[in-house]
Amino acid sequence: MPRPADPGFVHTFLPGRVVFGAGTLDRVADEVANLEVRRVLVMATNSARDAADVVEVQLGDRFAGRIDGVAQHVPTAVAEHARAKAREVDADGIIAIGGGSAIGLAKAVALTSADGLAIVAVPTTYAGSEMTPVWGETAGGSKTTGTDLRVLPRVVVYDPVLSLHLPKKVTAASVANAIAHCVEAVWTPKADPITEVTAVEGVRALAAGLNKVVTDPTDLDARSNLLYGACLAGSALATAGTGLHHKLCHLLGGTYNLPHAETHAAVLPQVVRVNAPAVPQAAAQLHAALGGVDSNAADASTPDLAGGLFDLFAAAGVPTSLRELGLTEEQAVEAVKTFKPTDNPIPVTEDLVREILTRAWAGTRP
Ligand SMILES: NC(=O)c1ccc[n+]([C@@H]2O[C@H](COP(=O)([O-])OP(=O)(O)OC[C@H]3O[C@@H](n4cnc5c(N)ncnc54)[C@H](O)[C@@H]3O)[C@@H](O)[C@H]2O)c1
Repeated sequence: MPRPADPGFVHTFLPGRVVFGAGTLDRVADEVANLEVRRVLVMATNSARDAADVVEVQLGDRFAGRIDGVAQHVPTAVAEHARAKAREVDADGIIAIGGGSAIGLAKAVALTSADGLAIVAVPTTYAGSEMTPVWGETAGGSKTTGTDLRVLPRVVVYDPVLSLHLPKKVTAASVANAIAHCVEAVWTPKADPITEVTAVEGVRALAAGLNKVVTDPTDLDARSNLLYGACLAGSALATAGTGLHHKLCHLLGGTYNLPHAETHAAVLPQVVRVNAPAVPQAAAQLHAALGGVDSNAADASTPDLAGGLFDLFAAAGVPTSLRELGLTEEQAVEAVKTFKPTDNPIPVTEDLVREILTRAWAGTRP
């Protein structure tokens, strides 16, 4: 809540339309028609081939082509292939069905299209990329990211039915990724009261959903809660941006090709451990949201947000150490040397980054 003594804030709501609910896959073609898109290239992750088949039929004459199978972190070779395909079929729109990798590929094509391409995103994980104007592409072991409104999906269709069979481990890691967006959105220089309330509600929905799908992965209400949380997490990231935590994950992911979502689960509790004391009010609200407690009743004096996140991820079966992801301790330490300083609630020194990465490598509970 804004306090009278605060200097005020500026918040930009991003343009975009969200269609939410079980069965909304059937509305994708109508959404495309509303955008007056003529020729659609459908991109789908392998697990979403059936959904892509459905959409292909729905599109009728608007269907122009299809790319099945995407790669994590948008390798330039994969992006170039998709750009060539978009030109070949004269696409003016893309439907991306899948996780952050499918949506990231659509963004890479839209970014470089001379005439602009409308993206309709149908997310099947909780990465949240569909709500952001952030793009990324990886070449030569290094990931470049940027922000451009041309890549922001014009419509996002959230159909929880599509995520019913997301494996438990992928689910848990993806939720960790979404929670990381929420947590970091409370301490970046662009954080404001609107991103904070969005982030806290996002964590509440994500933690509640994760606790339920761990026992019943096909619980449709829980899957809905998770997609709702992912939507909030993505929009919090879109306006507040990212900081130390995401930059460390991108460095590790790009350099060592680590799985993106799992990297978040290992690194986030360690970054929160050092940053939370600098943002006690927000940390208390996030901590309360983890346990489904009313955040207004949060006790700012004892929030163990870092420990709470570590325990949530561990209980859900997602690795909480970089060691389990195949990184060696030498690689973790090597990454410290190439990390560039970033805005953060506490100064980012080489010693601080070493401490975070050493603990994240070992999976030490905060
Ligand atoms: N630009 C942004 O704002 C932003 C935000 C978050 C993540 N990202 C990017 O997104 C990528 C990671 O996305 P991700 O974590 O969603 O991974 P992903 O898209 O690679 O999907 C993870 C795995 O889950 C499978 N899968 C997806 N949906 C499924 C379903 N419903 N059922 C069964 N299996 C399914 C995929 O085939 C894949 O094997 C990274 O490249 C990351 O940098 C970008």
